Amino acid sequence: MKILIIGSTGTIGSAIYNTLRNEYKEVYGAHRNSDLYPVDITDKASIKNLFEKLPKLDAVINAAGTASWKPLSELKEKDYLLGIHSKLMGQVNLVHVATDYLSDNASITLTTGILAEHYEPNATSLSLVNGAIHSFVNAASNEIDRGIRLNVVAPGAIAGDFPEDQKFAGYLPVKMNEVVDVYKQVLTNNSTGTIYKKY
Ligand SMILES: NC(=O)c1ccc[n+]([C@@H]2O[C@H](COP(=O)([O-])OP(=O)(O)OC[C@H]3O[C@@H](n4cnc5c(N)ncnc54)[C@H](OP(=O)(O)O)[C@@H]3O)[C@@H](O)[C@H]2O)c1
Repeated sequence: MKILIIGSTGTIGSAIYNTLRNEYKEVYGAHRNSDLYPVDITDKASIKNLFEKLPKLDAVINAAGTASWKPLSELKEKDYLLGIHSKLMGQVNLVHVATDYLSDNASITLTTGILAEHYEPNATSLSLVNGAIHSFVNAASNEIDRGIRLNVVAPGAIAGDFPEDQKFAGYLPVKMNEVVDVYKQVLTNNSTGTIYKKY
């Protein structure tokens, strides 16, 4: 299986990348500042350029994308637009481009988070974006051709990144290896349109 991880130097992406590299022969890591495989998911041309460089892939996992952390009273339109352009449209762009390049029955996995359905102060903009991605995956997974599957993993706060004994959005942080296991499971099962909640 040939697999691409976008955001492969991040907290979640690096854990996925390092795990899968031990288990599969061809695993590619991409992110904006990569020497080998630079990509900016906010730019569709950049995503196309990346796929042009790579062999035909069987799976792509995205763990890249950001949004603003601010209280509701301070959120300006430009703050919302950061998350809409990056975490939301970045992942939507990826789905559109990837479906032209991936092999038949390939797997696309996006990343959202617990904030799609649980409240945390200063995180309204992330909640908005995560919820929109879930709705996108619910709908778009029905229309993708060639058996290509589209799923999303919604992790809680990652233990280590957040204090392990402190609740985030009402839930204790989750162990990284358990989150990585969910991404691994999606690679080889038959699911599509599923939101994998890990919290
Ligand atoms: N960490 C958590 O506890 C947690 C929990 C639940 C959900 N999440 C979600 O999981 C995702 C990843 O979080 P993280 O904490 O692992 O992030 P992170 O540590 O900030 O890493 C982000 C990764 O994505 C790359 N990246 C950022 N913007 C990009 C872009 N526009 N195009 C391509 N690559 C880009 C970064 O490398 P470059 O800077 O080189 O591009 C880096 O490799 C986010 O959507 C986050 O909301 C995180």
